[in-house]
Amino acid sequence: VRASDHAGMDTNLSRTRFCQRFQLDVPIALAPMAYAAGGLLAAACARAGALGLVGGGYCELPWLQREYPIALEHGSPERIDRDASPLDWVLERRPRALMLSFGDPRPYGPRITASGASLVCQVQRLDQVPQALEAGAEVIVAQGTEGGGHSIDPVQGRSTLTLVPEMADWLAAHSPQTLLLAAGGVADGRTLAAALVLGADGALVGSRLWATRESLAAPAAKQHALGLGGDDTIRTPIFDALAGKAWPETFGYTRASRNALHRQWEGRYEDLRAAPAPARAEHDAGAKAGDYSRAFIAVGEAVGLIEDVPPAGELLARMAGEAKRLLGQP
Ligand SMILES: Cc1cc2nc3c(=O)[nH]c(=O)nc-3n(C[C@H](O)[C@H](O)[C@H](O)COP(=O)(O)O)c2cc1C
Repeated sequence: VRASDHAGMDTNLSRTRFCQRFQLDVPIALAPMAYAAGGLLAAACARAGALGLVGGGYCELPWLQREYPIALEHGSPERIDRDASPLDWVLERRPRALMLSFGDPRPYGPRITASGASLVCQVQRLDQVPQALEAGAEVIVAQGTEGGGHSIDPVQGRSTLTLVPEMADWLAAHSPQTLLLAAGGVADGRTLAAALVLGADGALVGSRLWATRESLAAPAAKQHALGLGGDDTIRTPIFDALAGKAWPETFGYTRASRNALHRQWEGRYEDLRAAPAPARAEHDAGAKAGDYSRAFIAVGEAVGLIEDVPPAGELLARMAGEAKRLLGQP
């Protein structure tokens, strides 16, 4: 069964299955970006008719305790293996949806679905889908390697343009009730329309919503990103080594700005890993000073499509309007 033959497929924005199931107007979910997708951004997305997901990334309970109530008031992990108490804290607050990325979701799926929350699982390959379904996923996010932030190693990674239609066809044949979101490269009306035409029910948007007024990213980082193109990003494990992050090897690849400090270590990853302290100190000093030749910015190739830092609601309306026009909808 091809997704395009499937009765559930509808590219009319507000009639997509994602909008209908989650009562949305715009088939977009805010990517739960660690330290950027805080309460205000999630709330702004929710008010604009999209799904606002707060980024619980490093499972720091105090961060969540601060940001999650802000989302509710204004509108809406690998670390989890070490400390699942933030998960319990969030589930007690009965979220509409909870997203897991980068690892086997099965140990946590039953707790999440039993709470009444919809489980959203971000995967990078078709062969991870059965595991996500077994965990109880109601929504699968297909993450291509164009995307910003962490993803799978380059040997296994896939690009959005082929991953999404292949996964849409697979789901149509094997689990037609499961929804599919495209992630990686969706940043304007064109790319949103493309995701729907490829068979997704909507898109998970990271980089583009990172560069909005409500995002918690540093204003100077957002301004710096306006001068970057997709060519200026790279996906390597060097960023984790510079930032002192210990991710599992498979998921320790980040797409971010390829700055001077990164270039200095290209081809010398093992040396960096063996003695990371001086480079880390340089990175940290850069982050403190807002010097983006030393501090990296986690953004995807879509950074080349970002030309301003608008309020999230304005951006979502713009993306939806442009996608509708391209799809020939009123
Ligand atoms: C700054 C930033 C931080 C991110 N942090 C997380 C995270 O904490 N958890 C997660 O599942 N994905 C995270 N992602 C990845 C997104 O979920 C998503 O796959 C990606 O942003 C999609 O590609 P795009 O950036 O082209 O929209 C992050 C992405 C960015 C840009």
